[in-house]
Amino acid sequence: MEVWKESEDYYPLNAKKVVNLREMNNERGHECGPIGVFDSGYGGLTILKEIRRLLPDYDYIYLGDNARAPYGPRSFDVVYRFTLEAVRYLFSRGCRLVILACNTASAKALRSIQQNDLPEIDPTRRVLGVIRPTVERLGELSANGNIGVLGTRGTVRSQSYDMEIAKLYPDFTTTSQACPMWVPLVENHEANDGGADYFVEKYLSELFAKKQDIDTVLLACTHFPILYPKIRERVREDVRVVCQGEIVAESLADYLRRHPEMESRCTRGGRCTYLTTENPEAFSSLARIFLDEPVEVGHIDL
Ligand code: DGL
Repeated sequence: MEVWKESEDYYPLNAKKVVNLREMNNERGHECGPIGVFDSGYGGLTILKEIRRLLPDYDYIYLGDNARAPYGPRSFDVVYRFTLEAVRYLFSRGCRLVILACNTASAKALRSIQQNDLPEIDPTRRVLGVIRPTVERLGELSANGNIGVLGTRGTVRSQSYDMEIAKLYPDFTTTSQACPMWVPLVENHEANDGGADYFVEKYLSELFAKKQDIDTVLLACTHFPILYPKIRERVREDVRVVCQGEIVAESLADYLRRHPEMESRCTRGGRCTYLTTENPEAFSSLARIFLDEPVEVGHIDL
């Protein structure tokens, strides 16, 4: 049984149980590997869950940079540097395709990685984010074009959603609200308790105080679907509350259909490796909330 070289000193027992996915060659002799899914922490699991539901045959490596989460309050440079390290790591594990299942990383790092780093690292590999595919779907979701975006401070300050929405739907208006307490509530198992109510109420009232006739509220942070029941019960019934998981999964399926050269480089075995830069036991325990099933987790350092 193989063990994680990186984790031997820290979590040898746990690490041994983790499936060790790595680069292989396909029947045409091309290098191929699992699909990488990255988030600052647990949030990307809401995306991975939907991706695996729709595309169960592929192999995946999920990497949560929990040791350095949250990314929301961090500067552009730091989020870019951390995200690039994660992407390089996933490439080193054989991933040809990496999904940044994190809005903050997609907002602050994706463009630079795609434009500046990929051509140098390996132009045949791809890194995709969650913002563009989400925005593409807004046209069919909103009737009046008034979109509310709830995200981390980093995502909201980057104005990535405002810009993407303006590009694709020039007639739409975007009203954004940063919800800096929501990620810590989720990460600390407090999402379903009474204490969370105050902050859910607070940010929703602040959003709707800015614009009343929003008809579509986008949960533009991959942690936020865990707060969905509390959010849903506090917004008017005629307002749509949109989670990104299914949207991103459908967009990935479409991407793989349109890019057979990439699809053939994604290994199929239906396996998933979970990795964290923090404590694997802690990750495994909180991951249950996101995935409804226990997972074995390995530790790595970035
Ligand atoms: N889940 C990440 C996102 O979608 C944010 C969490 C964080 O602040 O690290 O933006």
